[in-house]
Amino acid sequence: MLVSRLVLHDISTPDPQRQLCILPPGFTAHGLIEMTSSAKTRKRVLSGMRPTGRLHLGNYVGALQNWVGMQDEYECFFCVVDWHALTTDYADTSLIKQNSLEAALDWLAAGLDPQKSVIFIQSHVPAHAELHLLLSMITPLGWLERIPTYKEQRENIKDKDLGTYGFLGYPVLQAADILMYKGNVVPVGEDQVAHVELTREIVRRFNGFYGKPRDIFPEPQVLLTRAPKLPGTDGRKMSKSYGNTIMLTDPEPVVRQKLKTMVTDPARVRRTDPGNPDVCPVGDLHKIFSSKETMTKVNEGCRSAGIGCIECKGWAADALVQLLNPMQERRKKFEENPRLAWDILEAGSERARKVAGETMADVRSAMGMSLEYEAPK
Ligand code: TRP
Ligand code: SF4
Repeated sequence: MLVSRLVLHDISTPDPQRQLCILPPGFTAHGLIEMTSSAKTRKRVLSGMRPTGRLHLGNYVGALQNWVGMQDEYECFFCVVDWHALTTDYADTSLIKQNSLEAALDWLAAGLDPQKSVIFIQSHVPAHAELHLLLSMITPLGWLERIPTYKEQRENIKDKDLGTYGFLGYPVLQAADILMYKGNVVPVGEDQVAHVELTREIVRRFNGFYGKPRDIFPEPQVLLTRAPKLPGTDGRKMSKSYGNTIMLTDPEPVVRQKLKTMVTDPARVRRTDPGNPDVCPVGDLHKIFSSKETMTKVNEGCRSAGIGCIECKGWAADALVQLLNPMQERRKKFEENPRLAWDILEAGSERARKVAGETMADVRSAMGMSLEYEAPK
């Protein structure tokens, strides 16, 4: 009896860790943890996105959509990583703050729910910088220099000097983001796997040095985001740098217009030429966004030249509009009153700071650097 009531109470407690303080007599902390963990303790999710401006459909299917879907199953922390933006955009910081708010608008519009998830800004939780510093002490240079994203970006980005300390430390900052919330699961795309792997190595090293008698950090796991091939209007991967995007904020006429100009299977020169949706970017859009019924019509109609590309593109546009409409509706409320989104970020950052404070107390004490007075030995 008592047990079930306790568990119930625990469910309604916003911070599950806290209930350790209200142990009734006769319950060992250990027993309670075991009991409640099977009943409720949800795994922690931490993910982040750099604030680089408005999001497009590729960002949505590559990340945001998965985040939205994880909110019920996991205890989620989603972070606008403005310091990460700084690692490459340090010479011109004029857009970072504005973009952070824009990111929040897109996230909320897409369905992230501040009642369910903690949505916050990295720089508003200064403890991330402290943890970054402490982790940097134990991170061998070689681990950082080996990371593929580091090497690639140093070679490919020529208009910015990325030979900085901060840029090399990018993955250490990311590790701090994840570990601050003792994240168990990190939903990211393929390109970020090496960063989470580095985080795991840092955890092993940290726990090895300071984790007696108990580990301080769990090793986070990658939850690989299933990234369907999402082509832009020119058929290449949808990307801001190619100028081929469909934005989450594009109004219906713009979506329809962009679809009209989208490239198709080059084999369909004339209306009477049969085509193949498997080699057509519009076909790819259908596969991701259209219903089974529409997909059947596309497959049959395209291969038999029974439909024209204009008609087919119209159906793809219908599916996109149907997806984007509710987002744009939700977004309206925040656009009319952007302060609302900022308030959500502030409230989220407050909640994040609280968890971060607890983690940092643990970390400092494990490292023998607690802020408490200790009598000289
Ligand atoms: N580096 C990630 C990216 O570019 C963004 C990021 C920063 C992140 N901190 C994170 C992702 C923590 C997951 C967890 O996409
Ligand atoms: Fe592409 Fe549709 Fe045209 Fe076929 S009918 S080539 S799938 S746009």
